[in-house]
Amino acid sequence: MIIFKTVSQLGFFIDKMKASEKKIGFVPTMGALHLGHISLINNSKQQNDITVCSIFVNPTQFNNATDFEKYPVTIETDLDKLEAAGCDAVFLPNAEEVYPKRNATPVYTLGYLETLMEGKFRPGHYQGVCQVVDRLLALVKPANLYLGQKDYQQCMVIKKLIEHKNIDTVIHIEKTVREHDGLAMSSRNARLNDFERKQAVKIFETLSFIKNNLKPGRLESIKGQATAFLSANGFKVDYVEIADAASLEILQQWNGTTSIVALVAAYLNEVRLIDNFVLD
Ligand code: PAJ
Repeated sequence: MIIFKTVSQLGFFIDKMKASEKKIGFVPTMGALHLGHISLINNSKQQNDITVCSIFVNPTQFNNATDFEKYPVTIETDLDKLEAAGCDAVFLPNAEEVYPKRNATPVYTLGYLETLMEGKFRPGHYQGVCQVVDRLLALVKPANLYLGQKDYQQCMVIKKLIEHKNIDTVIHIEKTVREHDGLAMSSRNARLNDFERKQAVKIFETLSFIKNNLKPGRLESIKGQATAFLSANGFKVDYVEIADAASLEILQQWNGTTSIVALVAAYLNEVRLIDNFVLD
């Protein structure tokens, strides 16, 4: 596995791969890797000649300074996991490499997608995600990009970025990898203490409750019950929403046929967790 720390080293490698017509699969991450990330690497390996992973804790997507400072960093074990998974190349840049001072900060038109849920509760978050993903795609030039459904809204934002900028990359959205009790794997889970870790499964239980009790008609009551359940279990809830799975439009009622997605974001003390279920 080759490790690149600079844009010029990476660029040289990518040019060489492109010249020999190698198909590149790309998995962008912020590190503290778990089996969710590794599943993306595995998918990329199956469908490409070369798999590139990036590890960069992107400062521009954190709207909360403490969240950025406390974001887990485990580079050595990350590299071991990537090597064991058979990843071909890792890009490990610093902030100056990703954001050279001479470059102006781009602004992305995300419209509706930026005004709700993660966009609403984390102002500027998706601008930061677009800045870094736009930059990384321009450097890695992948044929295929692998993203996790765990960050459902992020997938839609990146889809929009790729469409708007006419980037020649196909997005693959992979299903959420979970712990044995159902908790979605997340780098932030490492920040939970033993008690919080036990409580965290209530997010999965909330989504299961919605899935099992959802009926056509108005949705306030089921969303209210889900929120109350989380609050009663010590969560500070940012949102429980049910949206059209294709457009992410928040639904007040469901006709029983549209494919929908239930999404939750809630804090357990300092740690903010998100998860979703697509309900077909
Ligand atoms: P990060 O949270 O490290 O996630 C990297 C990728 O792994 C994302 O596509 C995410 O959706 C996926 N992922 C996370 N948990 C997963 C799980 N349990 N199962 C499957 N996939 C999972 O998302 C980011 O980093 C950043 O915003 C990034 C896109 C790298 C831009 O900085």
